[in-house]
Amino acid sequence: MNGNNIGGNGGGGGAARRYRIALIPGDGIGNEVVPEGQRVLEAAARRYGFELTWQHFDWSCERFAKTGRMMPEDGLDRLRLFDAIYLGAVGYPGVPDHVSLWGLLIPIRRGFRQYINLRPVRLLQGVETPLKDRRPGDIDFYVVRENNEGEYSEIGGRMYEGTELEMAVQQAMFTRQGCDRVMRYAFELARTRKKHVSSATKSNGIIHSMPYWDERFAAIASEYPDIKTDQYHIDILTAHFVRHPDWFDVVVASNLFGDILSDLGPAVVGSIGIAPGGNINPEKDYPSMFEPVHGSAPDIAGKGIANPIGQIWSGAMMLDHLGERDAAAAIERAIEVVLAAGQPRTPDLGGNATTADLGRAITEALG
Ligand SMILES: NC(=O)c1ccc[n+]([C@@H]2O[C@H](COP(=O)([O-])OP(=O)(O)OC[C@H]3O[C@@H](n4cnc5c(N)ncnc54)[C@H](O)[C@@H]3O)[C@@H](O)[C@H]2O)c1
Repeated sequence: MNGNNIGGNGGGGGAARRYRIALIPGDGIGNEVVPEGQRVLEAAARRYGFELTWQHFDWSCERFAKTGRMMPEDGLDRLRLFDAIYLGAVGYPGVPDHVSLWGLLIPIRRGFRQYINLRPVRLLQGVETPLKDRRPGDIDFYVVRENNEGEYSEIGGRMYEGTELEMAVQQAMFTRQGCDRVMRYAFELARTRKKHVSSATKSNGIIHSMPYWDERFAAIASEYPDIKTDQYHIDILTAHFVRHPDWFDVVVASNLFGDILSDLGPAVVGSIGIAPGGNINPEKDYPSMFEPVHGSAPDIAGKGIANPIGQIWSGAMMLDHLGERDAAAAIERAIEVVLAAGQPRTPDLGGNATTADLGRAITEALG
């Protein structure tokens, strides 16, 4: 939240700005929180003088059960011409999680070179943190996760299956281009903030890839003498997230370490239902994809009680990426206003409001 007023001026004048958004609600609560995201984004569009056009795609585990595919074979071609993708969550009991992930999310993240996974971690007023004596302002950092390579590679296989010689090999992959671009992104982001980048490593235990990661971090850091740096092994870093979350500004991490940190981060600032995320192609050669950190939450799906804030805040990140900075800041501010007011609250925040109650309240707070 960059402090802009809710009533601030829309970005630019002249001809209406139009953005084509591919909408993939997915499974479970994705179908409940996405409409609230749309409601708020539509209100922001009206207020700030731009237009959003939506095209709905039913790509999901439900579709997989009917057709054997999470998305059609030409799925990426269908998405390519959109300005952005707004996703709920995929995954549902009965369909193995690796099918939903590798059948939809990962092909989109890789095919569209969304090599940045960006997740803000911010303690907001009105949200209880499990950490003692922490207040809003104490916790405010970003996790920048490498999103295209690293430990999540397809290289590997199994041999001697079903025998006692059975084995599995999984190859991690760290390229110079892959390391450098995610690190540069982190340094550029830090330049707009508190000028501090922390690197997640494990070069004491992982003997090839992590010393290489450290080497590239040192090389990229030398291009940014104005930015303070440090690095921590992932094990102690997780402890610092809990004990000293105020130490961090921008944390850059490989795919696996970033995945873990970017769930731990939201956990220390309250409900997972609030946390937003973006899968970003910074060059804008391809559409970027915005989705909350949480999954499809089968345990509460269909009850209308999911917290829509993670979805709505992801929408604000989408508008920011599209250049609608004032509208994005206004949505973030509206979320803060509603949370600080203490109601309405969904059950994960200790209340008994519905998903739609919270969506409507945030829309109203936009003014
Ligand atoms: N990006 C994605 O699409 C994504 C991310 C994570 C998990 N998943 C998938 O979602 C399914 C369920 O996974 P999980 O249970 O590990 O994680 P989850 O995030 O769906 O749920 C974890 C817990 O948090 C609660 N929760 C999550 N979002 C909430 C919200 N908005 N409001 C209130 N409570 C909320 C749930 O009720 C549950 O108790 C799995 O199939 C998994 O693969 C998908």
